[in-house]
Amino acid sequence: MELNGKHIVLGLSGGIACYKAAELCRALIKEGATVQVVMTEAAAQFITPVTMQALSNRPVYGSQWDAREPNNMAHINLSREADAILIAPASADFMAKLVQGRADDLLSLMCLARPIDKVPLLIAPAMNREMWAHPATQRNRAQLKADGAQLLGVGKGEQACGETGDGRMLEPQELMQDLIAFFQPKVLAGHHVLVSAGPTFEAIDPVRGITNLSSGKMGFAIARAAQEAGATVTLVAGPVALTTPRGVSRIDVVSAQDMMAACVNQADQATVFIATAAVADWRPDTSASQKIKKDGSGLVPKLGFVENPDILATLAQSSRAAKGELFCVGFAAESHDLLAHATAKRWRKNVPLLVGNIGPATFGQDDNALLLVDANGAREIPRNDKLALARLLVADIAKRLVKQSD
Ligand code: C5P
Repeated sequence: MELNGKHIVLGLSGGIACYKAAELCRALIKEGATVQVVMTEAAAQFITPVTMQALSNRPVYGSQWDAREPNNMAHINLSREADAILIAPASADFMAKLVQGRADDLLSLMCLARPIDKVPLLIAPAMNREMWAHPATQRNRAQLKADGAQLLGVGKGEQACGETGDGRMLEPQELMQDLIAFFQPKVLAGHHVLVSAGPTFEAIDPVRGITNLSSGKMGFAIARAAQEAGATVTLVAGPVALTTPRGVSRIDVVSAQDMMAACVNQADQATVFIATAAVADWRPDTSASQKIKKDGSGLVPKLGFVENPDILATLAQSSRAAKGELFCVGFAAESHDLLAHATAKRWRKNVPLLVGNIGPATFGQDDNALLLVDANGAREIPRNDKLALARLLVADIAKRLVKQSD
């Protein structure tokens, strides 16, 4: 319930993407928000207020002359109650209207009347690709941003008109994630966070290899939390079947050596490195170029191993880390004696912060518990879902970065 207690005014202007607003309304409510729908006359051509009322469980507003409001000031009353106004879809015409400060229908009137410093305005444009690319629309988009609105971007692909390009409204789930992210404090604004996540896969031959049970969920949650906190985020992921968090750049790798190369390459721009990956300690000393065949003799192949490079220790020893330009955070997945092992690992890896967790209790799970170990001791973050833990960890790291720069 990521939007518990939030009151969202969902504004619909005219466009075929109105059908997605129905799904969005439902999704917002499922996440705990209350939703008040306001529609323009054009929006009501695409989807009925009856549908939106049934989904939001509240009467829909469409007219500035709505006599249901005792003071007849729907535009004031609606905008004062909102934690955010989200216009989805925002048509080209509606964006132009907002730029001009026009107010000849309830939705534009309400946007103009909103207390600009208290009630955020989020805009999800939806239109034909030519309309979106038109200099007038791009000018309006920039002006809306300059006027303090939050522009949520557009999707690319097939359009209802049959053309293909930019201008589709983002999908309901994408809009919801953007809204959830919007409400998170921007404690990492200006930072570039590099996260390693998932297992590595060390090939024995083209069809076999050594890997481990890391699901990558904790690292992906941390990447999402850092992005929500305003950071630029690069996620270097081993082989996992997880969706990339919105707004995060992902680099897929397979082996520890690939992961090392990608992390070293990205670390130049990073200000924080969070190593959650379960990197294989060893790899086969040779990898056969063809599948090793069972020949019926009963003899088994002899496998030799070499140690993989330690990515975290390497970056923690880099000159940028030494100068305080790269803050390194390690993870330790242990099966027992968490505090002792995590403390020892912090020394060994030479990192300011090491996060311990019990491996068998977290691999593949949606929840976890963390033990934060630094030079002053340890602090536990009790069991919770991984995104909630990731947000708390990000907040903790942000405080350390502020202290470090003081
Ligand atoms: O040595 P161990 O694998 O227990 O250390 C765990 C921490 O070190 C994690 O943060 C992990 O991502 C990182 N690590 C690494 N490269 C390795 C091994 C571990 O970055 N080769």
